[in-house]
Amino acid sequence: MAKPKKRYVCSECGGVSTRWQGQCPDCSEWNTLVEEVGETKFAARHDLSGGGRTIQFEALDAPTAPLVRQTTGLAEFDRALGGGIVPGSAILMGGEPGIGKSTLLLQAAARIAKAGGEVVYISGEEATGQIRMRAARLGVSDSPLRLASATSVRDILTTLGHGTPPQLLIVDSIQTMHSDQIEGAPGTVSQVRASAFELIRYAKEQGCCLVLVGHVTKDGSIAGPRVLEHMVDTVMSFEGERSHQYRILRCLKNRFGAVDEIGVFAMESEGLAEVANPSTLFLSGREEAIAGSAVFPAIEGTRPVLVEIQALIVRLQSGATPRRAVVGWDSGRLAMLLAVLESRCGLSFSTAEVYLNVAGGYRLTDPAADLAVAAALVSALADKPLAADSLWLGELSLSGDVRPVAHGALRLKEAEKLGFRRATGPEMSGRGKSALAYGAIASVNALVDRVLGAA
Ligand code: TYD
Ligand code: MG
Repeated sequence: MAKPKKRYVCSECGGVSTRWQGQCPDCSEWNTLVEEVGETKFAARHDLSGGGRTIQFEALDAPTAPLVRQTTGLAEFDRALGGGIVPGSAILMGGEPGIGKSTLLLQAAARIAKAGGEVVYISGEEATGQIRMRAARLGVSDSPLRLASATSVRDILTTLGHGTPPQLLIVDSIQTMHSDQIEGAPGTVSQVRASAFELIRYAKEQGCCLVLVGHVTKDGSIAGPRVLEHMVDTVMSFEGERSHQYRILRCLKNRFGAVDEIGVFAMESEGLAEVANPSTLFLSGREEAIAGSAVFPAIEGTRPVLVEIQALIVRLQSGATPRRAVVGWDSGRLAMLLAVLESRCGLSFSTAEVYLNVAGGYRLTDPAADLAVAAALVSALADKPLAADSLWLGELSLSGDVRPVAHGALRLKEAEKLGFRRATGPEMSGRGKSALAYGAIASVNALVDRVLGAA
């Protein structure tokens, strides 16, 4: 028999190479290739005669049990999940270290257990004493949840197998788990995958909901192979800047619902507090207008959120390469906007350093923020403040055209309630009755004119 071929799997993207290399050929990360045992060899032809059982086909409209969702006791958590947790589902909770994943899950677990649910919380990272201290700080020590510190998947499943299965099983984190089904240290691709597979299979068989905590790498993807994201039903991401108070729970994938709602929390000394109305959270204390600051009416699911975008431009004297730094927005998109402003409006950023920040640790992904970013950049470049009660919205194309936005009327309505008096954006019909002075513009040139006060 031929010796099984070795293969090397990237722990970042899951890409496969036949030889070890310092850099993954798929995602270009360094030192991420890990050896795995060989691939299965398949026969050249499919054997159709033997083996396997016949599978049953079913009709699409065959009767099914209705989906019951269980509340987590935290309305913002439920909202992000699309209405609560679904029994038998597997949820992956990703987030940077220290962002508050363990805190959020302990709070939810304690509430569910207190409401009569059977909850098991397994930590592979912290000793039970540490978790008890956190529970005391959160004021949930009286909750009857079952707590253990363990890292062996076999031990966990054997223990759970002896009693009635819990309704909710939390494993913090999947990178610390170890399965004896395969070799390798905890945290390696194959171990993460095998441990997750065993835990998910248990959850599916027993109809319990499983929450796996997963660490994320610096670029935001959950460490370990992407395959983990395919194995679970729901992928959630807990985001925010550690230095800021606010945290956003976002759903990146959901087999049981929509992914457009977010949950908003504030990290306080007694744990995470829910923020039911986040619309003004991401505006910094705006007393007077300063150059380089523009407000964008974002929308998260059904809730409008006003976000402040801040730009700072520093003219360089020497010929050094200017820096571009972005927090909370896509750096590629910033480069694109700078190029549009340079080539369509004749502005020059080539000898200036450009810094862009989305206030409050918020992360913007909505392309309709283009116009607000452009307004902030032009305002900073010209050192000319924008009116403090003005809003900017619209997507910019490479040709410099202003493109329409989704939910325009809803965005403006909320902003108006909060005291904003003017807005600039694309041509918009059906804005309803509004006291807001709306200036429709068609191109980036008109935007520059408006910012500079020529229009
Ligand atoms: P933690 O839940 O341990 O983060 P993760 O599991 O994502 O790594 O939260 C860690 C941070 O949260 C820690 O730096 C302190 C802060 N924190 C509070 O501010 N208030 C609290 O009540 C708790 C429990 C934590
Ligand atoms: Mg933790």
